Amino acid sequence: MPHIDAVENAHADLGLLAGGLAIITGGASGIGYAIAEAAVDRGLHVVVVDIEADAIQRAVAQLQAEAGSNGVEVFGCEADVSDPASVRNARERIDAQFPGRSISLLCCNAGVGGGGGVLTASEIDWDFVLGVNVKGVAHFVREFVPRMLTQDGPGSVVTTASQDGLCAAQGVYGVSKHACVALTEALHGEVANRLSVHVLCPNVVATNIVTSERNRPARFGGPVESGPTTSVREKIAERFRQMGMPPSRCAEMVFDAISSGVFYILAEAEEDPGYVYLEAETRMRAILDGTRPYRPRSEFIASVFDLRDA
Ligand SMILES: NC(=O)c1ccc[n+]([C@@H]2O[C@H](COP(=O)([O-])OP(=O)(O)OC[C@H]3O[C@@H](n4cnc5c(N)ncnc54)[C@H](O)[C@@H]3O)[C@@H](O)[C@H]2O)c1
Repeated sequence: MPHIDAVENAHADLGLLAGGLAIITGGASGIGYAIAEAAVDRGLHVVVVDIEADAIQRAVAQLQAEAGSNGVEVFGCEADVSDPASVRNARERIDAQFPGRSISLLCCNAGVGGGGGVLTASEIDWDFVLGVNVKGVAHFVREFVPRMLTQDGPGSVVTTASQDGLCAAQGVYGVSKHACVALTEALHGEVANRLSVHVLCPNVVATNIVTSERNRPARFGGPVESGPTTSVREKIAERFRQMGMPPSRCAEMVFDAISSGVFYILAEAEEDPGYVYLEAETRMRAILDGTRPYRPRSEFIASVFDLRDA
């Protein structure tokens, strides 16, 4: 097992990851897809795990075209991360496709927005958002990390939480992202010195996250509308696409963190510099000073979420 520096949490030579697998949940869209592109660029074989079959097909075709003849293999794997049986089945299909292959990178990135406020969320809203954003990460960690700990090649685990996991929490989504950060910290404590571990915490990114309800599994009620009305949701979705940072920026930060050892990846938007840092600092300051939780709101965030003109 190649040694990684426990203090640094880093793989200084990213070249050592090449030839291994990158397993990326939510890899068919947005941030996950951008990480898949960056992984292909760096010579990793890519497994796109996603719940959306059409999107998987498109992503795999595009990634294969980008890989060209560089010997990188791209494999699409339909699975629901919130369902432990589906994740176990995905692991079996991946093992069959890549027998004995070292896992260089496990990205537990699939996630859904919404859920509403903690006062109003229904039982099934809680189950849906925590099922994907928290247990979906736990299921992949349980299925793949034990094997990563016994492989010869180096490995990294990256989860995607959010700025919402670092600031004073808001709503069911905020609760789920705090849990994702906590899960990743706990994992780091359990595997430090053997795998590097990192948590991605982005500001607003230009993805399809606002329309997450499209992927609500039937056992969580199917793709129902909840929270803001459809027209407001479409307006905000449009703002995310126009104003959010490119997902490729998050992907570059992920690989930079793997080589530098940064654990909390504060993915600041260029338009909103320092805001994620400020959110985290404000929460910590309240804890240390014994004051009430407060989430600062930047002009940029207001311009994305302010509904007065929507
Ligand atoms: N976009 C943002 O502004 C932003 C900010 C902070 C954090 N995030 C987080 O980034 C991660 C990626 O989201 P994104 O912004 O790229 O959105 P996205 O909707 O473009 O991508 C999410 C992907 O996850 C997949 N997915 C959803 N539920 C799934 C399930 N049960 N099983 C398997 N796959 C599933 C979707 O099909 C989709 O391909 C999420 O965890 C999200 O919470 C996003």
